[in-house]
Amino acid sequence: MKILVIGSGGREHALVWKLAQSAHVTQMWCAPGNAGIADERLAKNGALVECVNIAAEDLPKLLTFAQEKKVALTVVGPDNPLALGIADLFQKNGQRIWGPNQKAAQFESSKVFSQHFMEKHGIPTARSGTFANPNDAKRFAASLGGRCAVKADGLALGKGVLLTSNVGEAERAVDEIMVGKSFGSAGAQVVIQELLEGMEISLHALCDGRTAKLFPTAQDHKRALDGDQGLNTGGMGTYSPAPFLSDAELEKVGKQILEPWLRGCAEEGIDFRGILYPGVMLTKNGPKVLEFNARFGDPETQVYLPRLENDLMELLDASVDGKLEGICLRWSALTSVCVVMASGGYPGSYAKGKPITGLAEAAALPQTKVFHAGTVRAGDAVVTNGGRVLGVTAWASGLPAARKAAYEAVEKIRFDGAQYRRDIAAKALPKA
Ligand code: AMP
Ligand code: GLY
Repeated sequence: MKILVIGSGGREHALVWKLAQSAHVTQMWCAPGNAGIADERLAKNGALVECVNIAAEDLPKLLTFAQEKKVALTVVGPDNPLALGIADLFQKNGQRIWGPNQKAAQFESSKVFSQHFMEKHGIPTARSGTFANPNDAKRFAASLGGRCAVKADGLALGKGVLLTSNVGEAERAVDEIMVGKSFGSAGAQVVIQELLEGMEISLHALCDGRTAKLFPTAQDHKRALDGDQGLNTGGMGTYSPAPFLSDAELEKVGKQILEPWLRGCAEEGIDFRGILYPGVMLTKNGPKVLEFNARFGDPETQVYLPRLENDLMELLDASVDGKLEGICLRWSALTSVCVVMASGGYPGSYAKGKPITGLAEAAALPQTKVFHAGTVRAGDAVVTNGGRVLGVTAWASGLPAARKAAYEAVEKIRFDGAQYRRDIAAKALPKA
């Protein structure tokens, strides 16, 4: 089976790595890919994965490529092409594609849509309001005492959420998004949620339009610096499972969210085939959904896939074909930890083109995988090419061993200005 993966980050490297292990995959392309992806070989025949220089948002070129190469399945990593309707375009042209269509992708592309959906269908979420008028938004924020999350409706590279702790801050946040238009048209409407306290976890469920199969838990670290300080980023590190829910509690939380979600989708004619990724706060009043994403998390994928024992190709096929019901997801009992190494300055401005050393030494370690995110090949060297550069991942029996192994691999790798958090998964370490 010939497949095309769309995207160029750590998530896509993890998807490519896992799909390359499939017994069904005979040829694979990635558009546009990165230096790590271009080094992957297929288990079936030893062929290299080929990176093709087409941007993830260039839908017409991606379609032409898939048609010309007779691709059997296109797998979409990032949110942007989904929001632009890549699934609809491919389906209209008879090309099989994995990822939600444009209507279903609204769970991520519109926070106003998601918030209305959650309230209408009884999915536990924060107290909230949605607004097209800044004065109404400010009045609601004041009614919450200014302790709120002010969210631009549309996609904003993960930066469209401002957390505020008093009325002045909340008013400035509304002005920044709605009047100053700091996220452009994504901020024409806002969602304002009460500020929730608790432990935040990532859930994922693979869906086929009727069935949703819940993954184990993972936890991301969104802030740039140790101790959850500094600016919000795309995610600085993850681990799975997160020990804050027992298996029984996870099943219960999954049901509280997914059962009304599936009923709501059926009622509203939403055919969601892909990954639903709810960000959830475990509060003292129960779990509350903060937001939905309509794709795999990055860097959650990097810790999930080393634990997945199924052939990923079979799962994605079943998701596309509406045949997930009879399938059992199998996960290893190991814990995995991913530490993101980022460019100095990220999430602000940063330099590119810094040579990376130590990749071969890290790759030689057992139960370790260095997923590339922002890298490119320059002659014989691999150099930095983005904010998040590498997702250094290790898996082992128990969190302390997995964490130690991930940081040992990090220590082998060097590039000018490299920054990473030293406390990934520290919250979950057993108390001494
Ligand atoms: P979102 O993109 O909606 O997940 O928001 C980005 C981050 O802001 C989340 O990962 C949370 O850490 C934080 N956040 C969002 N909504 C809330 C909320 N209602 N209360 C507290 N923190 C929140
Ligand atoms: N883990 C953060 C994200 O994928 O949005």
